[in-house]
Amino acid sequence: MPAPLDSINRIASRPFDDQKPGTAGLRKRVAVFQQPHYLENFLQAVFDCVPELDGSSLVVGGDGRYFNRQAINTLLRMAAANGVRHVILGRSGILSTPAASHLIRLRNTAGGFVLTASHNPGGPEGDFGIKFNVAGGGQASEQLTNAIHARSKTLSEYRILPPAPLNIDRIGSFDLEVTTIEIVDPVEDYAALMETLFDFDAIRALAGRGFRLRYDALHGVTGPYAQALLVERLGFPAESVVHAEPLSDFGGRHPDPNPHDAHELMALMNGRDAPDFGAASDGDGDRNMIVGPGMMVSPGDSLAVLAAQATRIPGYRDGLAGVARSMPTSRAIDKVAGSLGIPCFETPTGWRFFFNLLEAAKITLCGEESFGTSSNHCREKDGLWAVLFWLNLLAVTGKSVPDILDEHWRRYGRHYFERHDYKLEQRAGDEIMRGLQDSLPRLADEKPGGRQVMRADNFRYHDPVDGSESANQGVRIEFNSGERIVYRLSGTGTSGATLRVYLERFAPDGGNGENAHDALEDLAKVSRQVARLKEIARVDEPTAVT
Ligand code: G1P
Ligand code: ZN
Repeated sequence: MPAPLDSINRIASRPFDDQKPGTAGLRKRVAVFQQPHYLENFLQAVFDCVPELDGSSLVVGGDGRYFNRQAINTLLRMAAANGVRHVILGRSGILSTPAASHLIRLRNTAGGFVLTASHNPGGPEGDFGIKFNVAGGGQASEQLTNAIHARSKTLSEYRILPPAPLNIDRIGSFDLEVTTIEIVDPVEDYAALMETLFDFDAIRALAGRGFRLRYDALHGVTGPYAQALLVERLGFPAESVVHAEPLSDFGGRHPDPNPHDAHELMALMNGRDAPDFGAASDGDGDRNMIVGPGMMVSPGDSLAVLAAQATRIPGYRDGLAGVARSMPTSRAIDKVAGSLGIPCFETPTGWRFFFNLLEAAKITLCGEESFGTSSNHCREKDGLWAVLFWLNLLAVTGKSVPDILDEHWRRYGRHYFERHDYKLEQRAGDEIMRGLQDSLPRLADEKPGGRQVMRADNFRYHDPVDGSESANQGVRIEFNSGERIVYRLSGTGTSGATLRVYLERFAPDGGNGENAHDALEDLAKVSRQVARLKEIARVDEPTAVT
């Protein structure tokens, strides 16, 4: 029975022309989302483009950032007015991104909204974001995203129930007209899933042997998850988990697990009495940074190690169907796949491109250089999953993080990798990318930095599952030396342009122990010359290096 029409307000909206979702959903300044009708317009565009939501169920949750609660109140009233029958909502509006993806799968819903701007800063002056995930738990495809954008530009009204205070802090259910709102514990189902994948007894024994761990939740959403898993279920001391309380402004910092933003963790891990293992996750819990005493594990190396060692872990004992990485991610995993004799897929940047491969069971593990790693257990990247995987590995091998990496590099060779980000004006960013595109046919003759060019192109992806094509996914230059430079513009920023330059150098013998920064210094210079960064943008140093 449809909701009685007279209680559904149809509100005249006005189209917005800036609601194009980026690499992972629509992200804007909070103030932009607070404009009258802005949030509602985008949500209505999603309801219109995903008609299967009418009459079915939906997962809702977010990373707890500023504006989360107001947005959820609006979303619940709009879901009810748009015919959604059953909403499964994390208590207090909280769900990590991987936990939301898991719930969509577990409860077989028609989709889910994840309210997050990931690692972007929060608070009234910070960013807010909305991601729509489809049935199956993956992020909306490029095609759906484009359809939503197109719809958002033509909407003239949206459907919503009248304003009402809604209590979302108590486990249980209530009705909104004919829609049931079910409030669930955000951690329970996710923690149960982790127990099916990893050897909790082995990790508990590791904790019992005095193995020292530091997990930094950076005041993002993972604090309660880490406490439930690492402290309550696995027995690490409570002080092992820090910055565990989710804060709406993340304590005023960037909740981003990289050496720069997680500097407290890095200082500890580089200090004299470093714990055995350090890790951090981001605002919405899908990223991870793994750190050993005195060394950060580069995300591309982490992915390769996990793939190489997967059969030691209960959830992956039967081996891997295949693996995938985003194009700019280091090719360390390709070496492992080659040795295992399994396929390795190369996709554009953005987790959504792994979805079809996972659904078609072509891959088991996948990852990106941007501190994202996951498997077929859900359809998002998963920070705590990666932490548990490493802990399980350390527990069953009895080895240290540096030993595991050394052995890996000696066996497969080492891929030195760094990403250099340059914050630029939009015009400069566009001009650089245009210049790079135009230079592609000339590069072989120009021999940048005296190097022989093996291949120079703009990456184009052909999805082997649905046949779709995604062009213009980054300029890549491969040299005969085994080095590679990749350029692309970020699709997650909310102002200006960020040029991302990915540098990679392969040392087949595992290298001589030098650090990645030194190993890539010369290539970094070449990357700036080729992009003409100085002439076009007058910069000669990156804004951030990860
Ligand atoms: C960045 C990362 C990308 C990741 C995305 C969402 O996107 O580079 O790998 O999937 O955030 O976390 P970008 O800003 O580069 O478009
Ligand atoms: Zn994130």
